[in-house]
Amino acid sequence: MTDYNQRIIAPSLLAADWRIVGDECRRALDAGADWLHLDVMDGHFVDNISFGPQYIRAVRDAVPDAYLDTHLMITRPDHFLDRFLETGVDNITVHVESDHEVAETLGRIREAGVGVGLTLNPSTPVEKVAPFLDLIDLLLVMTVVPGFGGQAFMETETMPKVAQLAQWRAERGLAFHIEVDGGIDARTAPIAASHGANVMVAGTSAFRAPDMAAAIAALRQD
Ligand code: DX5
Ligand code: ZN
Repeated sequence: MTDYNQRIIAPSLLAADWRIVGDECRRALDAGADWLHLDVMDGHFVDNISFGPQYIRAVRDAVPDAYLDTHLMITRPDHFLDRFLETGVDNITVHVESDHEVAETLGRIREAGVGVGLTLNPSTPVEKVAPFLDLIDLLLVMTVVPGFGGQAFMETETMPKVAQLAQWRAERGLAFHIEVDGGIDARTAPIAASHGANVMVAGTSAFRAPDMAAAIAALRQD
């Protein structure tokens, strides 16, 4: 049985130095990261373009044993899914707002033996993901409008959703991590945890910290 009080820290490579991405992955893992968060952006679902399957394959080859937590901020996750499944990532999280049959995409990820994640934007009501909670291993609550790192944590719009998801999980006897992503640092991580989140994505606060190990350790504190 997974302990959802066990905090998981997932630095986002979006904030890493891409010139030396292999070293940056190892730096994060040596500094105590549990997962590495991969922010895939298509320039259509969000107003930014980041990287695709080939780059993720390079990350997987650089850190074969790392847990790769993949966040697809793309309009057609169904169309590209096979190419991401082939990269060897550990989970794939898709947006409920994307243009696909959500349950079908989640089923294909499950079928491939990869962790199944679903996410929603700050402006999306939490009811939108309610029908899919028995199909997933992880629910990512975006705590910023997706597309860029370094934005401010959107507490009032998102924490009630985290609390509601934790309540539904308990009431329905379901099993999924609750992940938060965007503006997570030593101040906001405890706020998110107090509402029920246990997976903390940290881009700026981890990769841009003067002491990454101290920054990651601080994300585990209440
Ligand atoms: C934003 C990404 C986040 C972002 C987090 O679209 O999904 O993962 O990289 O960056 P910080 O931690 O800097 O807010
Ligand atoms: Zn992300």
